[in-house]
Amino acid sequence: MGNENLAVIVFFSKDGNTRSGAKRLNGRLGGKIVELREKKKGNFLQAIFKKGSQLQGNPWYEITGATYVYLMQPIWASNAVPAMNAFLQNADFSGKLVTIITFQQFADLKNSDKVHQDIAAAVKQRKGQVIGTYAFIGGKMGHCAEEKLIYDQIDSMALQN
Ligand SMILES: Cc1cc2nc3c(=O)[nH]c(=O)nc-3n(C[C@H](O)[C@H](O)[C@H](O)COP(=O)(O)O)c2cc1C
Repeated sequence: MGNENLAVIVFFSKDGNTRSGAKRLNGRLGGKIVELREKKKGNFLQAIFKKGSQLQGNPWYEITGATYVYLMQPIWASNAVPAMNAFLQNADFSGKLVTIITFQQFADLKNSDKVHQDIAAAVKQRKGQVIGTYAFIGGKMGHCAEEKLIYDQIDSMALQN
């Protein structure tokens, strides 16, 4: 058995909600998990202006052998986070099947569709195919929600691999 169906989860998390979700999802997928870490913390303004922050290491290399890529991040200022913008700017998604997952505080999932569309456009531009999008609820700004809230949402996903 090769690892041609390898799933890689790429995530950014400031307050732990997305991290908890990423770990739970990886428990189901049995793949690889890659946390985006910044040289200097990205901020609200960078999110609003859709800018990238500088990332540590070479997370782009980590998806090289993946067929399934899961991009997980919180919503900031109704946008993608700077760390994910930076990842998207350099990633090669050729031949990869990508699932987008966001966490946010607003229970009405406000603007999640827009954020998913923005991330999906970047994935397509870099030759990837988006096969799913999920909008989940995390903790309020600066807080981590109870594990059960996060886990139940992750466990509700119908996985394709
Ligand atoms: C700078 C900043 C901006 C945010 N903007 C939004 C927003 O526009 N909409 C929303 O629903 N939640 C917003 N949130 C809340 C986060 O999306 C939410 O707390 C999420 O669960 C955090 O995930 P994390 O713990 O993985 O960092 C914001 C949080 C921060 C820190």
